[in-house]
Amino acid sequence: MKKSADAAENLVVNLRSILEPLTLTEHFASLQPLEVELGCGDASFLVEYARCHPQINFIGVERLLGRIQKLDRKGRRLGLKNMRGVRIESAYFLQYLLPRHCTTALHIYFPDPWPKKKHRKHRLINEQFPQLARQVLLPSGTVYLRTDDVDYFQQMQEVFAAAKGFQIIETPTALAEVTTDFERLFNSQGIPTQRVAYRLND
Ligand SMILES: C[S@@+](CC[C@H](N)C(=O)[O-])C[C@H]1O[C@@H](n2cnc3c(N)ncnc32)[C@H](O)[C@@H]1O
Repeated sequence: MKKSADAAENLVVNLRSILEPLTLTEHFASLQPLEVELGCGDASFLVEYARCHPQINFIGVERLLGRIQKLDRKGRRLGLKNMRGVRIESAYFLQYLLPRHCTTALHIYFPDPWPKKKHRKHRLINEQFPQLARQVLLPSGTVYLRTDDVDYFQQMQEVFAAAKGFQIIETPTALAEVTTDFERLFNSQGIPTQRVAYRLND
């Protein structure tokens, strides 16, 4: 039976297995460079960025159903063919579902800061993260980070300073100018964005 237009265009990946890596060609019409946003929230950054870069494919990862549904709604409204969402935990996605060395960028914007000391073990950017990033990035691939949280920002910098194979780079202005929902909220309260980026050596 022919699929309805809505079913055919659903942008949230229906995971057949959570044990095997995604076959990217099943989810994108064109084989072109891939970038991934972890914890994409309501996907306002990703939708805008994907709209401006049709020559790049994008995956947004988010664990909350309501938020990944917003990615779907917004992307479909704009007819985006180069963006998909996956509802799953970010570190698990990197470790088990994203194929090795397939992405040119990881965007991580305003990840939950877990401010209490006893909860810091839940932070996504921890000592294990550079290795997870290394597994999925292509040579010269880049991790772009933003946060409002001064302590987490310090931790991000310490983690990457201790990791082998990454060098700090400037975030391109055109990228920094595409803001996220949380970023706009924090900035409107006078809380500045802390941003840093690390490129994997060839
Ligand atoms: C503070 S919000 C930031 C959302 C968006 N990046 C922005 O800047 O507007 C953090 C988002 O990450 C999601 N999230 C937190 N931890 C996650 C994890 N381990 N895996 C997937 N999503 C996660 C949350 O559900 C939430 O939508």
